[in-house]
Amino acid sequence: MGIIYILLICVFNLLNTKVNGQEVKLTLLGDAVKKGAVCLDGSPAGYHYAKGFGDGANSWMIYLPGGGWCGSKQSCLDRVKNNPDLSSTKNITNTYFGGILSSDKNSNPDFYNWNRVFIRYCDGSSFIGDAVDPGSKLYLRGSRIFTA
Ligand SMILES: *[C@@H]1O[C@H](CO)[C@@H](O)[C@H](O)[C@H]1NC(C)=O
Repeated sequence: MGIIYILLICVFNLLNTKVNGQEVKLTLLGDAVKKGAVCLDGSPAGYHYAKGFGDGANSWMIYLPGGGWCGSKQSCLDRVKNNPDLSSTKNITNTYFGGILSSDKNSNPDFYNWNRVFIRYCDGSSFIGDAVDPGSKLYLRGSRIFTA
């Protein structure tokens, strides 16, 4: 009885974290590498896109996530090593669109049917850098990601 109860709570919590939203796949920028629009580790920049519909079909939300800066060569190298979600697109598949990105009308009444784009934050400097460190092969190409 006790075990069943605990299992039910776990299942409920699992469902509860994923209500009112959807998984959205990663799209890599087609000519990202050619344009130098790459993440800290040199992998191509990318985004997650959910198409707008109804009277939101012509409205766009471009979501630039936070994640902080890596402020030194060592901290950027550490980020590449320990935090691939913020430094690479290599193993990224889907991301979860909830809250302001959700397509659920009740939980996101203002934007649920807009075109919603979640740009991956992987450059370590808030989409403004444009340099490469030849020694460490760190790519600080945020402004190229933004432009591309
Ligand atoms: C991607 O996944 C592979 C296999 O699990 C792993 O060896 C590699 O370190 C990962 N790379 C990144 C950048 O997460």
